[in-house]
Amino acid sequence: MKVSTEVFVTGATGFVGEHFLRLLCAEGVAVTALCRSSSKRGHLEDLDITWVLGDVTDGPGLTAAVMSFGKAARARGSRAWFVHGAAVISYATASGPLQDQANVEGTRNAVDAAKAAGVDRMLYVSSVVAVGLASGPTTSVDETEPFESVQQHTGQPYVGHYMRTKYLAEQLVHEAVDRGLNVVTVNPGAIFGEAQELSNTAEIFGRVDKSLIGRFAGPGSLSVVGVTDVARGMLLALERGNTGERYLLCERNLQLSELMEAISKQLGHNFRIRTLGPRTWALLVLATRIVDLVKPLRIVTPTALRLLSVQLRFESHKARRDLGWEPAPFDQVLAETVAWLRRIGKVG
Ligand SMILES: NC(=O)c1ccc[n+]([C@@H]2O[C@H](COP(=O)([O-])OP(=O)(O)OC[C@H]3O[C@@H](n4cnc5c(N)ncnc54)[C@H](OP(=O)(O)O)[C@@H]3O)[C@@H](O)[C@H]2O)c1
Repeated sequence: MKVSTEVFVTGATGFVGEHFLRLLCAEGVAVTALCRSSSKRGHLEDLDITWVLGDVTDGPGLTAAVMSFGKAARARGSRAWFVHGAAVISYATASGPLQDQANVEGTRNAVDAAKAAGVDRMLYVSSVVAVGLASGPTTSVDETEPFESVQQHTGQPYVGHYMRTKYLAEQLVHEAVDRGLNVVTVNPGAIFGEAQELSNTAEIFGRVDKSLIGRFAGPGSLSVVGVTDVARGMLLALERGNTGERYLLCERNLQLSELMEAISKQLGHNFRIRTLGPRTWALLVLATRIVDLVKPLRIVTPTALRLLSVQLRFESHKARRDLGWEPAPFDQVLAETVAWLRRIGKVG
């Protein structure tokens, strides 16, 4: 007899969370999801979800919620799975303390809650930024890359708080395996697709479409993937992933100029994008640092620009081979993203 599965999800109201919830519901999986009193969840009203109010920074509250979910699932004869996707994604200079709380302490609380509740399996949503860096625009790295490559290629241990906190959070998850937790990790690249609120990647489209700044690219690269493929990869990792292992979820690697040219083509412009050299880019980073001191920046921050100058290039052979993960071609993801941005009037 097939054992039924119930899933408790954090980060459910976000970009990835929405697509993951839709996939789970389409698969007939019963879902319990954590949300804050401030979370927007009107767009998820059509789904049959059991909502639990809470915050990942409240350890005892999270543990009580996951324990109660696990107990109820077991009483119904179901497997209990726990997915931790909640995080604060920000490249703002002042975001360090908030990301320490939500991303690092929140993950510590999630791991403790999963242990206390005795869930059958946990999935942690990490990021490629927690893996390391490639050495140049023609190379790429995989799950085995030592994180010290960030220091090697940038001269610093981390490029910003987001990278630091996602790295530290993933270490907590790996340590929990030694304490007997059945946990698997996915590390998506930069995620594109339809969202309720403009995601960080969606911001790039407006710049390429309307602004002169969007004709110039940093010297770095990005590993890219569609959001529905990330949701599918999460479910496959839960079903087929090996305990304690990580699976990178990326469709392809693009230099920033290639990505922006592909976006420009989808928008019908066919702009030629110029890559600025590392020295010019370093001057731009310096200029934003000065502006940031006077008026704190939110999107085009010094950290965001520094990330656009490094080689975030990754391979997903392991997820494709071991999970049977087959992401859609990125051109299709871009076309769908542009169609959505046109529908909501964000691009012409
Ligand atoms: N987007 C990407 O390109 C990308 C790439 C690689 C990895 N990831 C990872 O994927 C995961 C999901 O990212 P996303 O793009 O979906 O982010 P998102 O749209 O910003 O959503 C973040 C989610 O986390 C929740 N959250 C934040 N702080 C919380 C707290 N203290 N307590 C409870 N919930 C909290 C948010 O709830 P509210 O609705 O209440 O704010 C929201 O549901 C993250 O772990 C991120 O690091 C994302």
